[in-house]
Amino acid sequence: MGGFSRAILPKSMPNSDVMLKTENARQRYHFVTDQMVEEERVLRAKLKRLAIENHALREAAGKEAEAPLASELSSSTTDHYPELRALESKALSIVVIGASGDLAKKKTYPALFALFRNQLLPAHAIITGYARSKLEQSKFHEQIKGFLKGDDALVSKFLERCTYFSGQYDDAKDFSALHQELLKSEASQGKGPHANRVFYFAIPPSIYLETSKSVKASAFCGTGWNRVVVEKPFGKDLESAKKLADDLLQIFSEEEVYRIDHYLGKEMVQNIMAVRFANAVFEPIWNSEYISSVTLTFKENFGTEGRGGYFDEFGTSPRSSSF
Ligand SMILES: NC(=O)c1ccc[n+]([C@@H]2O[C@H](COP(=O)([O-])OP(=O)(O)OC[C@H]3O[C@@H](n4cnc5c(N)ncnc54)[C@H](OP(=O)(O)O)[C@@H]3O)[C@@H](O)[C@H]2O)c1
Repeated sequence: MGGFSRAILPKSMPNSDVMLKTENARQRYHFVTDQMVEEERVLRAKLKRLAIENHALREAAGKEAEAPLASELSSSTTDHYPELRALESKALSIVVIGASGDLAKKKTYPALFALFRNQLLPAHAIITGYARSKLEQSKFHEQIKGFLKGDDALVSKFLERCTYFSGQYDDAKDFSALHQELLKSEASQGKGPHANRVFYFAIPPSIYLETSKSVKASAFCGTGWNRVVVEKPFGKDLESAKKLADDLLQIFSEEEVYRIDHYLGKEMVQNIMAVRFANAVFEPIWNSEYISSVTLTFKENFGTEGRGGYFDEFGTSPRSSSF
């Protein structure tokens, strides 16, 4: 018996209990026990149930995507996601810092549009792009429009909620001016004087700190919560990651900081249930007793394409990243 086969049999099982099963099973396993056959039957039933659930979810998602935009979140949406109801009572500003960049146009705005299209973004929310580039609002809209996938009328409605503001990252005065603009747009949302604000950092980590100081000093609102979302890579090694984390926590509370990685094992994570339950050989051994670390390999089939600034400073491993 090879090492791999031995690893999937319970240690207490005497060799005499190891039986060769049907031709079909023999093609898949070297040695098959009654217990393994029963486990496979249970796992196949689980997999079938998951496939049915998955199909139902995809269908539901498709219907949501086609649904016309309601002026307020529909009650069925808020029933499903009760935390959205809490967002209805106050104005909401989402500020994309570094809005002129690659990540903003390719990922951040399309993700916000997907929320909007699926009625998962309060309809009164206003999204303000912030960057140094001096861009007319119409020019900025042109820049992000090509990446928003959906009905033209819906894209136009979304763009009506997207404004653009130009300023420096290390200048508290520019952020004070932004604050004044946000106050005006929040007043126009018809939710009274209270507002929540999200600041999404689509900027290189090298300027997180100066930007954080400016945001905290001049653009935080005092009438609701404030949240700061930072993109990975979070520093360029463990040491710089720890320093960045410490520095940010000198400025913000832990509750205010969200760290995001939009690609962390995307495909694998999406398929992890199927991979595990469709392969009876994995199910008994995919646990902490047998796995001490996980390495994910990620390859892109396109070049840097506008992401030079990101790769110049941080680079990437050509083959894999471990965590
Ligand atoms: N792009 C991706 O696919 C990707 C993937 C994973 C993670 N990320 C992370 O997402 C963040 C943004 O990435 P990105 O590709 O959008 O970056 P980027 O295009 O290089 O930068 C975004 C914006 O920040 C400003 N900026 C760039 N370098 C600066 C500098 N040295 N000093 C001051 N401002 C600067 C520029 O705007 P203005 O000149 O108009 O101010 C730029 O449009 C980074 O943390 C990156 O590591 C990006």
